[in-house]
Amino acid sequence: MSDQLIIFDTTLRDGEQSPGASMTRDEKVRIARALERMHVDVIEAGFPIASEGDFESVKAVADVIKDSTICGLARALDKDIDRAGEALKGANSARIHTFIATSPIHMKMKLRMAPDAVVEQAVAAVKRARRYTDNVEFSPEDAGRSELDFLCRVLEAVIDAGATTVNIPDTVGYNLPQQFGGLIGNLIERVPNSDKAVFSVHCHNDLGLAVANSLAAVQNGARQVECTINGLGERAGNASLEEVVMAVSTRQDVFDCSVDHLDRTQIVPCSRLVSSITGFNVQPNKAIVGANAFAHESGIHQDGVLKSRETYEIMRAEDVGWSANRMVLGKHSGRNAFRTRLQELGVSFASEEELNDAFVRFKELADKKHEIFDDDLQALVTEANLEAENERIKLVALRVCSETGEKPHAVVALNTDGEEQSGEADGGGPVDATFKAIESIVSSGTELQLYSVSNITSGTDSQGEVTVRLEQDGRIVNGQGADTDIVIASAKAYINALNRILAPVDRQHPQV
Ligand code: KIV
Ligand code: ZN
Repeated sequence: MSDQLIIFDTTLRDGEQSPGASMTRDEKVRIARALERMHVDVIEAGFPIASEGDFESVKAVADVIKDSTICGLARALDKDIDRAGEALKGANSARIHTFIATSPIHMKMKLRMAPDAVVEQAVAAVKRARRYTDNVEFSPEDAGRSELDFLCRVLEAVIDAGATTVNIPDTVGYNLPQQFGGLIGNLIERVPNSDKAVFSVHCHNDLGLAVANSLAAVQNGARQVECTINGLGERAGNASLEEVVMAVSTRQDVFDCSVDHLDRTQIVPCSRLVSSITGFNVQPNKAIVGANAFAHESGIHQDGVLKSRETYEIMRAEDVGWSANRMVLGKHSGRNAFRTRLQELGVSFASEEELNDAFVRFKELADKKHEIFDDDLQALVTEANLEAENERIKLVALRVCSETGEKPHAVVALNTDGEEQSGEADGGGPVDATFKAIESIVSSGTELQLYSVSNITSGTDSQGEVTVRLEQDGRIVNGQGADTDIVIASAKAYINALNRILAPVDRQHPQV
């Protein structure tokens, strides 16, 4: 019988470290529920010491998720570990993930610590984490550039101290597949007590090799892979969960472990949810979850697929959830059907009033759009959550005039801290005019870094989902908005980003 590969999802922690991808507590809970529906083994919910908000998010996820293990990240410091232990109190199954850097460059330049002191601190951290749970993971940060002998020494010591998982991160995405696979094989062979812990890998995608490196590690004995939905993560991201999972399940001829315990039909819905919440769109040609991943353009391919789909398809679209986006509701659907479908999608309402508000929005949408899909419902809930955030600026009204031969003109009314103001501007296009009209009121001093629109479902009556990324003094935020009118969706996204930039933050990054 082959082993089960442990899937450790870090979308809510490392994924959230992507600039602008920060998520609210409720958004994290929605994603965690989607991961639980997929039967992901471990969900890394955040870094509890980073801020009050991070602590509350990990706690909320730990309190509601019952089937997956919930993990909190902690540097190898008492205060971090105690905070993680506190946040995870309500979990059915809790894991503390503690780490310290082990590469010569990180020890010398970042930690300014001697190797002996690093080993000592790693051991102390694992022992402290064991006070809270017997499920403790240790990572030697930047293992991909650490010296093999030293890594062996650290790993042996932390396993002796009680680490049950040892995770080997290629923190800067420097390794090549053969080299990284070899490293894992070597470690398992050379660390004397390696049979007492699960070997895990955590690969970054700086050279586009995160998935390849993770798979090479699995072929050399790793039994846990750390990954994120859509490959979200710092810089070029982490190994993408959907690619790792589908590679292992599709190529069972070369892997001696399986991912059969995962409900792979949840992959596409989960991918859509993460991209709608974070505003990070999935490129059309992205493996498994990109819009073109199962589309056959060339006539020869189409002919082959029609005769026998195996000619050009190695996976079936429906097996990864491409047909899961069902038309569920319409104009005549009642409140009960609405509530039931949202419950099936893992969305619950704190009060009858919240349900009523969402139902009103649903009816408004159904008036404009006949068929309401799951993705529309998710966008509707995301919108409601965005508005529930501490909004200082609200859109009151927008009028845009766009005519051939004329400069587009926008007139906007905003409510800022209770005061209504209006502004107007011309622009290169209707969206440009709208943003300038908003700026004529708020003068935010932010710089627009990204503007993107995608359709939530197909058809010209689809809602447009807009992401706006703003930068101010080095701080980056993403704002989202959805509407069947893409200019209104754009205004909502811009205002959402402004509200986020106005919200105070004091958040620590785990790796600095
Ligand atoms: O990339 C990395 O090294 C990390 C560690 C905290 C595991 O994210
Ligand atoms: Zn990482």
